[in-house]
Amino acid sequence: MSSFPPGSVIGILGGGQLGRMLGVAAAQLGYAVHIYAPEANGPASDASRFWTQGRYDDGDALSTFAASVDVLTYEFENVDGRAMQALSGSGLVRPSVDALRIAQDRLKEKNYVADLGGRTAPFAAVDSLDDLKAALATIGTPAILKTNRFGYDGKGQVRLYDAADAEAAWSAIGEAPAILEGFVQFDQEFSVLLVRGFDGDIRFWDSPANVHVDGILDTSTLPAGPVITAQVEEARALAAKVAEALDYVGVLTLEFFAGAEGPVFNEMAPRVHNSGHWTIEGAVTSQFENHIRAVCGLPLGDTGLVAQGVTMRNLIGEDALGWQVILEDPANHLHLYGKKEARAGRKMGHVTRLEP
Ligand SMILES: Nc1ncnc2c1ncn2[C@@H]1O[C@H](COP(=O)(O)OP(=O)(O)O)[C@@H](O)[C@H]1O
Ligand SMILES: [Mg+2]
Repeated sequence: MSSFPPGSVIGILGGGQLGRMLGVAAAQLGYAVHIYAPEANGPASDASRFWTQGRYDDGDALSTFAASVDVLTYEFENVDGRAMQALSGSGLVRPSVDALRIAQDRLKEKNYVADLGGRTAPFAAVDSLDDLKAALATIGTPAILKTNRFGYDGKGQVRLYDAADAEAAWSAIGEAPAILEGFVQFDQEFSVLLVRGFDGDIRFWDSPANVHVDGILDTSTLPAGPVITAQVEEARALAAKVAEALDYVGVLTLEFFAGAEGPVFNEMAPRVHNSGHWTIEGAVTSQFENHIRAVCGLPLGDTGLVAQGVTMRNLIGEDALGWQVILEDPANHLHLYGKKEARAGRKMGHVTRLEP
C-alpha cells in the first residue's frame, strides 16, 4: 500500500524528543503512534498511544513490532544489521532501509554524496592505526577522526593537530572503524532541510545558519545571511539528487559548511533534525508534520517561512531550569522535552522566536 489514511498506526523507532514532536504532529492529523525504544519510557511517551520496550538489535521483537503497525519510520538511526533485515522484511519502512544504511555510516554517506558530485572535506577510511598514519600523511593536520557509526553531538570524534597524536586519537575513539577528515576552513554552517513525498514531490524549507558550541547545535537562525544564501541553491541541487537517488520518502537533512569555493557537504540525517525545530512556529508546515504526511502518502504542506526572521536556541543541561525567565518574554515559544535530569550536554528543550 502506498498511502495510509488518518486513523492508521505509525510505528516510530526511537523514543526521544524527535519522536515526541513527530507524535504531536501525528496526533494532530488523526494518527496514532507506536514507539519502539530500549527504554521503558522517554520524551515520546507523552505523545504516543503505544510503547514497546525492546533492544535495537532484537530482530524478533522488531519484526513483531513492524507487523503491528501500518507504516514504520524512525527518529534514531543506529539500528544494527540483523534488525535492519527484520525491518526490510516488513516492506513498510519510510525512509527506506537503504537510506538508513547509508546515512548511519559516515564513510558510506561521504562516498555516496561524493559519487553524486558533492564537495566534501578530504577524507580517508581508517580501520587501523596504520590506516590512520597513512591517512594523516596524505590529508595532513589539523584533521578530525570520526567513528563511522554511533556519533552525535560531537561524540565519537577527536581532533588531531599533529601526526604524533595518531595513537592517542585512535585509542580515544575506541579503535572503531572511522574516517579521517581534513579540517574545513569555513565561516558558517547551514543545513538543507527537505521533504520528499511518496509521489516524488520535493519541498525545501529555508536553510538556517547553524552555530555549534562544543559540538552541539546551539542556534539555528533565519534568514541565514548573504554568505549562506549564495550557496543554498547548489546545496539544494545536491540534496535533491541524493533524495532522488535514494527514492527517499520523508524529511532529509544535509549539513554543510559554507566554504570558500562553495558548499562543503558534512553529513546527512535520514530524519527530522534539530536544525529544523524552528519550523514548528516559523514555517507554514513543520518538518514533523510534513514527515508524517510524506510517510503516510498524503500531499505535502507548504514549507514557506511565516516571519521575517526566526531564531531557535537549544536548551542544554541546566539552561532548561531557566524556563520561568524564558516564559516572561511573551515572544518566546518554549519547548521542553520532559527529561527529568538536566545533565550537562543533554538536549532538554528549545526556544523559538519569530521576528514578525
Ligand atoms: N571536517 C571538519 N572541519 C571543520 N569542522 C568540522 C569538521 N567536521 C566537523 N566539524 C565541526 O564539528 C561539528 C560536529 O561534527 P559532525 O560531523 O556534524 O558530527 P555530529 O554527528 O556530532 O553532528 C560540525 O557541525 C562542525 O562544527
Ligand atoms: Mg552534525
